[in-house]
Amino acid sequence: MVSGLLRVWKCRLALVHLRTRNRFTPCLLIILGGSASGPLAEKVSKELGLKPGRLEIKNFPDGEMYVRIHEDVRDQDVAVIQSLYGPNCNEKIFEYLLLVDTLRDLGARSITGVAPYLAYARQDARFYPGEAITPSSLARMFEAAGTTSFLTIDWEPHRLGGVAKVFKIPAQNLSAMPLLGQYAREHLAPRNPIVIAPDAGAENLAAAVAKELDGEYFVFQKKRVRKEGTTTTKITVDAVEVEVKGRDAVFADDIISTGTTIAEGAKVCRNRGAKRIFALCTHPVLGQGAIKRIRSAGVSKVIGTDTIPSPVSRVSVAPIIARAIRLQNSDSRP
Ligand code: R5P
Repeated sequence: MVSGLLRVWKCRLALVHLRTRNRFTPCLLIILGGSASGPLAEKVSKELGLKPGRLEIKNFPDGEMYVRIHEDVRDQDVAVIQSLYGPNCNEKIFEYLLLVDTLRDLGARSITGVAPYLAYARQDARFYPGEAITPSSLARMFEAAGTTSFLTIDWEPHRLGGVAKVFKIPAQNLSAMPLLGQYAREHLAPRNPIVIAPDAGAENLAAAVAKELDGEYFVFQKKRVRKEGTTTTKITVDAVEVEVKGRDAVFADDIISTGTTIAEGAKVCRNRGAKRIFALCTHPVLGQGAIKRIRSAGVSKVIGTDTIPSPVSRVSVAPIIARAIRLQNSDSRP
């Protein structure tokens, strides 16, 4: 009887602790947006019911960087959001490193690095002797600076076995594809859709979009020809079996850079009688001429997210970042 009462009392105590923790957890979390991701950090903070942390970043006349964090971060959990897109991705990376190192120096309890777009993902293998495997180099630098956990979005260095293998700290690859799929469903309303992964690496992305559209997906084959000393890439799409006639084709890819991949795929669909062609991507890198190239190939709408601010960034990744930070934070406090 006494032990039963004791158990109930302990349970109540645990419940009070949980409620208290949930109510007060936000005060122990600080969201800082680097200069590349101020608006996104504001959105993430809003999702979490917080005000974004205040910081100051400027450059001295000779280009050196000045960083000042206007928050008391001692013993706080801090998330630094900094998307590492170009141009000047190297500066963004250095700013990130400076911020994280300063946070550690100021006694932050944990530092979650959030790089919605992670630079240097291309070189995920040593194709020729002596080359840098840049995702691994970046991960080591982030860890050395003081990052204690890491989040990115739709970034899967397949040859290195995924994000969790590249980092030694807990690292997670989130996906924007469900949000892009929802957007497509609500705003593009594709009819009898076929979702297309333009290459094998995008299969999971296409599957996630197909789920949202309640449709099927198909994976195209893409071949790249590498020539030492040049960056020329040849893309061919071999899609003998796919039936797209009279259907709306929806491409799903992580990155649109030159637009060649989507354009080549779109041509196949157009030649096979697809009705409308849409392209969804997480990271609209959009090099010069990319949109024109894609449009001329028959794509009527390109939709991206705000991991990289661009004219096609219609979907915000703030909700998925906020959810991941919230989960992480509620797990981390004793
Ligand atoms: C790599 O294979 C990626 O998944 C994308 O398909 C690629 O980065 C797109 O590049 P681009 O737009 O230049 O063809």
